[in-house]
Amino acid sequence: MLVASPLSGKWTAYICLATILCTLFTPAVSVKEHDFKKCQQSGFCKRNRAFADHAIGSSAWKSPYNILPESGSFKDGQFQASILKTIDDDGNTIRLPITVSFLESGTARVTVDEEKRQKGEIELRHDSKARKERYNEAEQWVIVDGLALDKEAKVAYEDKSQITVKYGPSSKFEAVINFSPFGVDFKRDGSSQIKFNDRGLLNVEHWRPKIEKPAEPEKKEGEETVEEKKEEEKKEEPKGEDESTWWDESFGGNTDTKPRGPESLGLDISFVGYEHVYGIPSHAGPLALKNTRGGEGNYEEPYRLYNADVFEYILDSPMTLYGAIPFMQAHRKDSSVGVFWLNAAETWIDITTHKDSKNPLSLGIGAKKSTQTHWISESGLLDVFVFLGPTPQDLTRKYGELTGTTAMPQEFAIGYHQCRWNYVSDEDVKDVDRKMDKFKMPYDVIWLDIEYTEEKKYFTWDAHSFPDPIGMGKQLDLHGRKLVTIIDPHIKNVDNWQVSKELKEKGFAVKNKEGNTFDGWCWPGSSNWIDAFSPAAREWWASLFKYDAFKGTLTNTWIWNDMNEPSVFNGPETTMPKDNLHYGNWEHRDVHNLNGMTFHNATHHAVKSRKPGELQRPFVLTRSFFSGSQRVGAMWTGDNQAAWDHLQASIPMVLSQGISGFPFSGADVGGFFGNPEKDLQTRWYQAGAFYPFFRGHAHIDARRREPYLAGEPYTSIIAAALRLRYSLLPSWYTAFHQAYVDGTPIVKPMFYTHPSEESGLTIDDQFFVGNTGLLVKPVTDQNRDSIDIWIPDDEVYYDYFTYDIIPTTKGKKVTLDSPLHKIPLLMQGGRIFARRDRPRRSSALMRWDDYTLVVTIGRDGKSAEGDLYVDDGESYDFEKGQYIHRKFILDGAQKISSTDSEGRGVKSIQQGEWMKKMQSVFVDKIVVVGAPGSWVNKKEVAVESDGRSWSASLEYSPAANGRAAFAVIKKVGARIGADWNVVLA
Ligand SMILES: *[C@@H]1O[C@H](CO)[C@@H](O)[C@H](O)[C@H]1NC(C)=O
Repeated sequence: MLVASPLSGKWTAYICLATILCTLFTPAVSVKEHDFKKCQQSGFCKRNRAFADHAIGSSAWKSPYNILPESGSFKDGQFQASILKTIDDDGNTIRLPITVSFLESGTARVTVDEEKRQKGEIELRHDSKARKERYNEAEQWVIVDGLALDKEAKVAYEDKSQITVKYGPSSKFEAVINFSPFGVDFKRDGSSQIKFNDRGLLNVEHWRPKIEKPAEPEKKEGEETVEEKKEEEKKEEPKGEDESTWWDESFGGNTDTKPRGPESLGLDISFVGYEHVYGIPSHAGPLALKNTRGGEGNYEEPYRLYNADVFEYILDSPMTLYGAIPFMQAHRKDSSVGVFWLNAAETWIDITTHKDSKNPLSLGIGAKKSTQTHWISESGLLDVFVFLGPTPQDLTRKYGELTGTTAMPQEFAIGYHQCRWNYVSDEDVKDVDRKMDKFKMPYDVIWLDIEYTEEKKYFTWDAHSFPDPIGMGKQLDLHGRKLVTIIDPHIKNVDNWQVSKELKEKGFAVKNKEGNTFDGWCWPGSSNWIDAFSPAAREWWASLFKYDAFKGTLTNTWIWNDMNEPSVFNGPETTMPKDNLHYGNWEHRDVHNLNGMTFHNATHHAVKSRKPGELQRPFVLTRSFFSGSQRVGAMWTGDNQAAWDHLQASIPMVLSQGISGFPFSGADVGGFFGNPEKDLQTRWYQAGAFYPFFRGHAHIDARRREPYLAGEPYTSIIAAALRLRYSLLPSWYTAFHQAYVDGTPIVKPMFYTHPSEESGLTIDDQFFVGNTGLLVKPVTDQNRDSIDIWIPDDEVYYDYFTYDIIPTTKGKKVTLDSPLHKIPLLMQGGRIFARRDRPRRSSALMRWDDYTLVVTIGRDGKSAEGDLYVDDGESYDFEKGQYIHRKFILDGAQKISSTDSEGRGVKSIQQGEWMKKMQSVFVDKIVVVGAPGSWVNKKEVAVESDGRSWSASLEYSPAANGRAAFAVIKKVGARIGADWNVVLA
């Protein structure tokens, strides 16, 4: 009787066969917020918040953490000492070794451990096999470089109460480490930027044995009354001594046994003089983070980082989502600083903003504000990197140096991806492929969700619906297109399937707290999870992707990793029990936020090694991620909804990914759940054409919505958006390359490009694309025929489509027409960017097409510049120097020149096969927008290249009705990879 039910769909039917779970899995209309913890329901978060309330509320509060002065030593850029934590009125202490490292990059790092746990001098409860140390391997997964110590760092001052170290570029940075109480003041050019333990919220829950209390004390004479007892408990709480969740904790019917007892960490980090902080994705909220301690317009809950499968998430919320990047930045006019909290356990972050001065006279407009944050993690080391800027670029570069940058993608990966849950058969896939062609909609990749498998056994095909995956793959290949199939980390637990058998027999699955293979519930029903922390398990995983193992796959098959938070339907908060054990006997609680990355990484390496000698850059999409995931693929923002507010929310989410080191991101175009109205779908394509990762996707219960089904005028408008994306692929690819080189975001918020413009600091609904000067403001609400766009500078701005000069004022908004067919897209003056204007079916077919360069003349009327990066778009030959990287300069309206942007001589450019073919790829056309009036009678220009000179025609169109004058130079005929000049004067 499922047919008529709105809940029908294969998966519901399937899951509901397991009747017990049926109640758990009726697809809800929105996220069940109560399925996820609030701070109050997470013992350590509650304790640390209470600790903070007590410390802040008490004028007599003194942090009980002091550096033992005689324990301190400074050598080769590193300060080491012991912090003593006073734990009772008798002065008993716990020893916490601290290391402050000053790195060559100018980044500082503060690491605090706990001696007893470090030495294993603790006892575990419940005969646990878990490790005794605080988790100390996050660095191993996350940090790839940049740890060299700054031997130039110098002690500038030292006495019994503090040590001051000068470090960083020209010793501009300073760390004042105070001993009593412990605290660090990080200064730049003499003024405080970031302070640790300024408010005394440092809290390291030390190991202690559990003292069994008598169950129900008998009432004796002289015993305290109930009231007295309550008073007593109240007094205890503020010290963080609420013991109720020290030893075990239950939520949603699951109990977490805590063999190591309480072990959380808390630290306050203050950003002095910064009103706004950013980052710590992923959350569905504004780019500039909100305050979290209540009050009008603020959140009541801290931002949470605990990767979870948040089914139909809610917007404008600090609630956790699928991935976590604990990197926070603070920006104010002309200054940026940041911290990276390297901890993979469940983490909460409170944010409050205060006026700096307590003097009421200075509280008016102009009073400076500071942001105070409070970081709380369940376990692991306290390990924080401090970046002192001063520019936003410094932060992304230095964070990128530590955690790695975006992998150079295959070019197809930045084209358009067509996905739905599900394409029901290989014939269906082939049909969609043909229809996209019929409607002249370029696309590169079609995707298969879970239904292609036989009973959700990954690496298999459903024989009825996908009898001929090879034939399907070959049809796609005719136009250079690719197939992406989903492979999740849960492996169906059955005995008659080799993959499941091997996983269990070889012990490559995550273990439960007893050390046996953990079994949980996911799409296939009873499942086990591969433990990608294990090197042997990763090697085995790689073997499953070989072409002769995963039959039906071809070199154009790529992979989608979903559900890797991991999603466990019957687990606490839809994930794994925290007392599960991973490779090395680390508890899941210690590594939870890393889990998705290790799996994604294992898949990346698996597809990279499918066949010896065949070295293509892998494409693997992930849902869950952590710092470092950018090195191995792309992410998307998870299961959103077909609603205008979800379209709106996607922009700050993508921008936040960008500034946080993982810019290859996008949201499901059209919205995953539900059925978008035609205009919403159309607007979403226009926005999606400007996501770094551009994929349409839909839920199994949603109506079919391949873009050609929309009907006119929508189909044509969507086709135009797709073609716009494809024509700009050379510029997108160049932006990806910059991200690969130094961690620069691919789409950039206003504060990133214009850090001096205070009024742009919180703008998060418009952005620049790479270095193109293309400024886009996607329309994200209905019936909007005009839209206001904020102008960050004094440059001239042209409408992308009409070349109209936009009447702008720096720091002010200007209104643009935005009827449905129009994307509000401006070109900033002073730029040169590349396009390929010939419409084709896929990016692969554009590979040898000629280029168009667009020159937008700047405010000064005579100059512009830009660059272009090109390589073969698939192999690693670019690492050996086989690529073209040009710098274009328009100089004094006299000539446009192209030179190697890295100043490489011909000899250092590898002359491989691809490079040879690029010899016959040319600059076909140059469009100069804002062309000077002096060109009005010009009919031709001279082109000089390869020691020759020839002429090309120039067509000049004078300014008219607000439109800028422009010139088109045709059949330029200079090779894209060569030096050339176009002489205009
Ligand atoms: C990724 O996989 C490679 C190969 O197995 C391994 O060396 C590396 O440590 C892994 N990194 C992460 C982040 O999982």
